Amino acid sequence: MTHSNQIQLSGSNAQADDITMSGGGLYSLATKGAKDVIDHGTPLVIDAIDALKLNPNLREFRMSDMGCADGGTSLSMIEAALNQVRKHANEASISVVYSDQPRNDFNALVSIVHDLTDFDSYLKRIDEVYPLFSGSSFYLQAVPNNTLHLGFSATAMHWLSSKPMNISDHVHMVGASGEELRAFSS
Ligand SMILES: C[S@@+](CC[C@H](N)C(=O)[O-])C[C@H]1O[C@@H](n2cnc3c(N)ncnc32)[C@H](O)[C@@H]1O
Repeated sequence: MTHSNQIQLSGSNAQADDITMSGGGLYSLATKGAKDVIDHGTPLVIDAIDALKLNPNLREFRMSDMGCADGGTSLSMIEAALNQVRKHANEASISVVYSDQPRNDFNALVSIVHDLTDFDSYLKRIDEVYPLFSGSSFYLQAVPNNTLHLGFSATAMHWLSSKPMNISDHVHMVGASGEELRAFSS
């Protein structure tokens, strides 16, 4: 069934798909704070890569940015991560799986990652990197078993898979209390 230009999804759908970020790259342009969070967290990502103790002869490495929005806020982190992977395994081909909800603005995401905008994408500086784009929710398995080395997600875990109940006197679950808080905590 269709409503104007939207396809109505039906059947079992584990994807919370009706609240997305502003499109057209506006999200990253307007959200310096989210980029700051990711940039400050980048040393944790580097440590996580070091902890993997990658085989120097590794042929393929795959990481994912889950809940990536338009991808602009994580460009610097991903560039640093890819350079760190190459320090350990300099022959590895790398895929970066960008995933978000199906109604995310994937056109903006693809344009930003493929360096078609004013954002500065690492793609032109790092060889043998393959960006892949997925509309699979982070509540679903998005890549085959045993093919993901590193998963990353920033400022997205407050999107729940479902709403357990309405909150009577607040707009956000952190302001819930009593039975309502318990419902959102479980
Ligand atoms: C506040 S934005 C954060 C974007 C980016 N990670 C950042 O930190 O700048 C949260 C993103 O998570 C996405 N998201 C929410 N629920 C999701 C789900 N179940 N699966 C995948 N992405 C989801 C939203 O569509 C949105 O793009």
